[in-house]
Amino acid sequence: MSIPTQQKALVLEAKFGNFTVQTTDVPRPGPEDLLVKIEAAALNPADWKIQTYGILVNEYPVVLGSDASGIVIAVGEKVSPEAFAVGDRAIFQGDIDFEKQTTRGTYAEYLTLPHQFVAKFPENLPFDEAATVLSGVATVALPLYNHVEGADSVKLFPPWKEGGRGKYAGKSFLVVGGATSMGQFAIQFARLSGFSPIVATASVHHAAFLKTLGATHVVDRKLAAGELQAEFAKIASGQFDVVYDAVSVADTFPLSLAATAPGGHLVVVLSPAEIAEEAKKQGKNVHYARGLFVLPINREVSGPLLASLPKLLETGDIKPNRVEVLPGGLNGVVGGLERLKANQVSGVKLIVHPQETA
Ligand SMILES: NC(=O)c1ccc[n+]([C@@H]2O[C@H](COP(=O)([O-])OP(=O)(O)OC[C@H]3O[C@@H](n4cnc5c(N)ncnc54)[C@H](OP(=O)(O)O)[C@@H]3O)[C@@H](O)[C@H]2O)c1
Repeated sequence: MSIPTQQKALVLEAKFGNFTVQTTDVPRPGPEDLLVKIEAAALNPADWKIQTYGILVNEYPVVLGSDASGIVIAVGEKVSPEAFAVGDRAIFQGDIDFEKQTTRGTYAEYLTLPHQFVAKFPENLPFDEAATVLSGVATVALPLYNHVEGADSVKLFPPWKEGGRGKYAGKSFLVVGGATSMGQFAIQFARLSGFSPIVATASVHHAAFLKTLGATHVVDRKLAAGELQAEFAKIASGQFDVVYDAVSVADTFPLSLAATAPGGHLVVVLSPAEIAEEAKKQGKNVHYARGLFVLPINREVSGPLLASLPKLLETGDIKPNRVEVLPGGLNGVVGGLERLKANQVSGVKLIVHPQETA
């Protein structure tokens, strides 16, 4: 296919600025890079938080977006043909420049990426669903399974390695916010690792779905804290070996910490400082998820995990999130982020098709 020189991208011009769809140059792949045509991009809460709070990014203008699927349309000269070829179906996060504290994200029609942080995905998975996978897998699997010294991780033995499946039979796992995108992947990795029971808090209408992912029990997240604890006590003596708090707000921290067994592990997705001190006093371990494959501390585990993903997805061992596709291509992102910010998205991932941008 011929490679266009220009594309549409959703640009955030300045800190606290507005998003506008602009025409920009199509990037050229470096020797180790892939150029991908983005078919589906998923919306993540981080994108509205960066715009609203001015966090994480320091160099503007910037294109946000950290989850997408597409087709490889050009391959850098140093990428081996066994690794990637034109026509491969690819899933990827945005490309982060740590030095400049900026990112070239997935709210665009085309993106170049270092091939080491791209995974292939199988024919049986549609582009929309595939776009939901990578940040969820990263944010769950890295803080659970990264064995590298200094990694903030529970350091469990990974289920994608031989001997890893079912290794934690008899150990209990709680997912606070089971219906979140992250929570859905936490339930699935807990299942692959053999944890039982696997308890999830969620709105009750998600119970049947979350059980298909591996939750053994779903507890109504709208119960008062004391009632939730009473429910946990009926299932797992009230405390769990591993707790994954996929919500990590002031409402959920006390519950999550109380539900972590002494000596157990609590993984949080936001603001560990608020509870780190209290957790230490109680002899509990808190780990802050850093859901980026490209982070230097994550790289050793990223390669084998990304290589194992096509099989995990093909067999259905890891299932993507359910999706809602927004109309208007990249023009749909702003309204979608507003819905995420207003907590109006429940149990699905919002998706846009950059190629449909008018
Ligand atoms: N640290 C990292 O690297 C990293 C990476 C990615 C995301 N994150 C953060 O992780 C969090 C989750 O992201 P996400 O994309 O998974 O979110 P999401 O899918 O957009 O979350 C929506 C879900 O949140 C659930 N929810 C809201 N409040 C809840 C509560 N008090 N208890 C239980 N469930 C609750 C709702 O559940 P119901 O439908 O059941 O009502 C809804 O389905 C965000 O804060 C995000 O910024 C961090």
